[in-house]
Formats: sequence, structure tokens, C-alpha cells
Amino acid sequence: MEKLWAGRTTGGNAALADEFNRSIAFDSRMAEEDIRGSMAHAAMLAASGIVSQESVDAILSGLEGILNDLKCGIIKIDPLAEDIHSFVEFELTRRIGDDGKKLHTARSRNDQVTLDLRLFLKKETAQVVSLTKALIAAITDVAEANAETVMPGYTHLQRAQPVTFGHWILAYAFMLSRDIARLNNAADNMNLSPLGACAFAGTTYSIDRGMTAKSLDFAGALPNSVDAVADRDFCVELASALSILMTHLSRFSEEIILWTSWEFQFVELADEFSTGSSIMPQKKNSDMAELVRGKTGRVYGDLITLLTMMKGLPLAYNKDLQEDKEAIFDALDTAKLCLAVFAPMLSTMTVHPENMRKAAAEGFINATDAADYLVKKGMPFRTAYKLTGQLVAKCIATRQTLENLPLSEYQALSELFEQDIYEAVNLDTCVKTRISEGGTSPESVHAQIRQLREKVL
Ligand code: ARG
Repeated sequence: MEKLWAGRTTGGNAALADEFNRSIAFDSRMAEEDIRGSMAHAAMLAASGIVSQESVDAILSGLEGILNDLKCGIIKIDPLAEDIHSFVEFELTRRIGDDGKKLHTARSRNDQVTLDLRLFLKKETAQVVSLTKALIAAITDVAEANAETVMPGYTHLQRAQPVTFGHWILAYAFMLSRDIARLNNAADNMNLSPLGACAFAGTTYSIDRGMTAKSLDFAGALPNSVDAVADRDFCVELASALSILMTHLSRFSEEIILWTSWEFQFVELADEFSTGSSIMPQKKNSDMAELVRGKTGRVYGDLITLLTMMKGLPLAYNKDLQEDKEAIFDALDTAKLCLAVFAPMLSTMTVHPENMRKAAAEGFINATDAADYLVKKGMPFRTAYKLTGQLVAKCIATRQTLENLPLSEYQALSELFEQDIYEAVNLDTCVKTRISEGGTSPESVHAQIRQLREKVL
């Protein structure tokens, strides 16, 4: 295969070196961006009087033809091409002759590749944002249906205080809403055009970087040509936002895996989103959630790949940077797949409120409420805390609960206890009265859902 750069050397590489050097297997995903970038560049070359309008017209229709033919499958990307940039340029020249050879005036593959990547990642980031929104919408729907469903809230994986299931899962919706902010921030930071930086030092031609930036929908042109070709912080930033997003999905998955276990039985996944065992007939496994948890590691790995790739690089372009694409593509593909599976897995899940309530009724998760009851009657909190602890110990010893302990036994510990203690330790009361802003009361759950729907979705 002929090389774009044959001249100083013959370009006749060892087959193994060619194979090693080649990026076509993965950068062909940016074919459309490469062609659109070239079209913007060519139009600018004509407008700036650098290449004749006639030649540029031939280039533009040639590029348009290549794009269409690729889309319709009339031509295939040559797997032996060095990279997508070479493929498009050779194909153009094959079609239109010498005019094709003018396209690369005032351009280098160094600004071209990072342009393609920025264009590609802007589009992909927008897709991740919309998939994240779809998941938040699915969470808010489940939360709305479960605004009054009482479950035990946990710390240290020990039953701690009663919450509503809606409140508990909305925590993930808010985490995801910050992921959207991080993704949008990464998109904003990548929204400047490197085109015209050329190899790294700019060019002697009177190019119009503002024109190409504008026609490719960038907010402007990167101010420093060395920075423009040398950095990949936009990939790192995106991979970092995706890693945090995956952390949230992974924690959520872990909870779903716990909740679907026979020990919890808080929820059941639809058959469409569960698997069985090849040997144990009774098994119903939460493989989708486990895979999301498992794939989180891949995305972290991609982030570390990118960070490590960058850390020792002298300015400006180095071939190491070719490694950016597989890492960020994998991070994107993985996150998109996980988000796409998560939303319907959640929407089709059956919630078992009765099992949640049963778990909430055991384990003295209303003990804080019993202590607060005494505080409201004038006892200092620390004293009330200790006394309630004794009460719990007594219940455990006599196999009773705070809900059914006789009033006389309450009063044996404090005369402040009256008949209304039963109302105070009732689980529904416990959640309904947690009306503080952002608390677990059904009212607050609805307010949170409204906030997400108005501000995020
Ligand atoms: N395939 C290369 C990459 O992905 C394209 C840029 C090549 N530039 C160069 N100076 N060799 O980074």
C-alpha cells in the first residue's frame, strides 16, 4: 500500500511494521468526521484564495461522493490503508486526479486527527447524555410509584433507618444528573477547533481558522497550535466523566444484585433481563447488573490508559497519541451499552413492597424515632439515645419489637412514654415525618422528582 509520506523514505515498510503502525481498524469509525473536516478545510482554502475554486469544487464533490458511497456500502474502507486520513485522500485522488492532491495544503494529519476525534466525541458525548437522561427518567418513574414504599435504609449494610424506596433510588438519579453536567463540561472543553494548527507551528498560508471552526460548529479555534495538536485532555476528561458515571451504575447494580437475592427479595428482574443457570434449575441471575458492575473496570482501565499515555510525552505530536482512540471508543461503547440496558432493566423490574416492609419491621430501624420522641418531650438527645438503646436490648432479650412492647415496659424505663409512642415508632409515621428538605418523606420524594423533571430531563 502506497504511503502518503513516501519520499524521504521509500515507504516500503516491513509487513509487520505496517501492521503495527496501522490505525485503520479503529479510526475508520471517524470516516464521516474526517470527510466533513476535509470539506470544511477545502472550502476555506478556496475562500482564502489558496486553492482555486475550480479545484475545490472537484474536491468537494469527490468527498461528497466518497461519503455517500461509504454510507450506501458501494465502497468499503480498505483494511490495509494506514489510517482513515490516508484512505480518504487516496480515494479522492483516485477519483478526481491531481486536484485531490491539493486538499492537504496547509494541513497536517496532526491537526486532522485531533479534529476528527473532537467532532466524533462531541457527537458521542451528546448520545451518552441522552441515554443518561433516559435512565434518570426510568428511575424517576419507579421512584414515583414507590414514593410511599417503606424499606430499611442501610449503613454498613446493616438496617439503619426507614426510608422510602423512591427516595433511596432517587439518590442515583441525582448522581447521574451530575454525570450529565460533567459530560457537558467535557463537551464544552472539546468544542474548539484545532484545524489550522497544521503540524504544530501553524502555516505560512493565510488560512482562516475562524471559518473552518464556524462551519464545523465549534465555538472557536484553539489559540495555541502546539497545544492544539499535542493534548488529549478532552479524551481524558471524557473518560473520567464516564468512569464516574460507571461508578454510579456499578453501585446501583450491586444493590440490585443484593435486592434480587433470595435473602432480600426486594425486587425481581423481568425474565427478559435475567438469566438462568445451566445446572441449577432454580436459579434466576441478575447477569445484566453484574455485567455493568464488571464492565466498570474496563472504563477505569481506559482512563488509566489515556492518563498513562499522556504523562511522559514531550510536546508536540507523538505517535503514542494514536492509542487515544481505542481507549476512548471502548469507554464510550461500554458506557453507552450499560446505560442502554440499565433503563429497561429498571422499568421492567417488579418491586416487592411487602418484603421491604417486612425487612423494615425487623431490626429496630425506628429506634432513632423512639429517641427523638423522648427528645421532643424534653429529654436531652444523648440521654434519650442511651435509654432507647436499653429499650432495644430489652426487646431483643424478650423477642419483642418497639411496635409491640407493652406501654408498661416503656414506662418502666421513662415516664415520658405515653400511648402516642406507638404512633411515633410506626414505620409509616417514621418516613412521613422526615419532612426536612431532601429527606425521605413522600412529599420530599415528589419534590425531588419534580426538580429532576424540570431541571434535568
Ligand atoms: N493515525 C494517526 C493517529 O491516530 C494519525 C496522525 C498521524 N500523524 C503523524 N504525524 N504520523 O494519531
